[in-house]
Amino acid sequence: MKKVRKAVFPVAGMGTRFLPATKASPKEMLPIVDKPLIQFAVEEAVAAGITDMVFVTGRSKRSIEDHFDKAYELESELHARGKDELLDFVRNMIPKNINCIYIRQAEALGLGHAVLCAKPVIGDEPFAVLLADDLLDGQPPVMKQMTDTYDYYRCSVLGVQDVPRADTRSYGIVDARKVADRVEQVGAIVEKPKPDDAPSTLAVVGRYILTPRIFHHLENVKPGAGGEIQLTDGIASLLSEEQVLAYRYAGTRYDCGSKLGYLQATVVFGQRHPEVGPAFDAYLKSLGA
Ligand code: UTP
Repeated sequence: MKKVRKAVFPVAGMGTRFLPATKASPKEMLPIVDKPLIQFAVEEAVAAGITDMVFVTGRSKRSIEDHFDKAYELESELHARGKDELLDFVRNMIPKNINCIYIRQAEALGLGHAVLCAKPVIGDEPFAVLLADDLLDGQPPVMKQMTDTYDYYRCSVLGVQDVPRADTRSYGIVDARKVADRVEQVGAIVEKPKPDDAPSTLAVVGRYILTPRIFHHLENVKPGAGGEIQLTDGIASLLSEEQVLAYRYAGTRYDCGSKLGYLQATVVFGQRHPEVGPAFDAYLKSLGA
């Protein structure tokens, strides 16, 4: 049976909630202290044994390509200044066996469309999807928890968590039945339902493992909520022929696509940062936080 070896990172969204910061630079490059969101997501995929990172990029996404590329000028400058520790650090940001592949989504037609753009690279294999603006802090890392679940059940797995009922209109919501600890069988899934219409409060977060059959369904879904090709609609269609599981991940999620979630992540990761953590913590205490 095939292992999950490939991950898709859709990074072609407009990032309107973070304007003007995202006018010329993608939101996935926003740093939490000193590490861009996209690097957290790639590290999570690496920890799950994934080796092929497929970035679906759009306009002004060059900085993501540059970030994972060799930086000749920076490296020779660091070398000339004798900054060997930093040089080592930038050279070994990701393990040597990792392949970075870039695909362009010419028009931001929706998350489902972005995932479909990766079809030629994914082929006939199960694959992960990570939305880097959802920063997931878990031990073991959340994608590793999910690939373990996939290895056991051999079907699509959606990362989920309970949300307040008032928030259902911001998520894909599943109707599911418990099959094991943390694992539920999805009966239905709807995109951004009103609180009164939501079948439950179990929300899909930015982590998925999908079987390649999803591409067939994405090719046939019509534009849904917001006029976009929704991944949720593709999954709803996939349900008609394959089992799909919801996995209640262990960990904490920071919605870094929203300003509040981004600030919360910055505070938590700032406090535990090896270099500035103690001083930042003291500063917060001095504010009475
Ligand atoms: P969001 O719904 O967060 O949209 O997309 P967005 O455009 O990035 O941000 P806002 O809401 O305008 O602030 C969810 C994920 O899907 C990707 C985004 O990059 C993000 O990771 N996406 C969305 C695409 O890659 N292409 C699209 O056409 C739409």
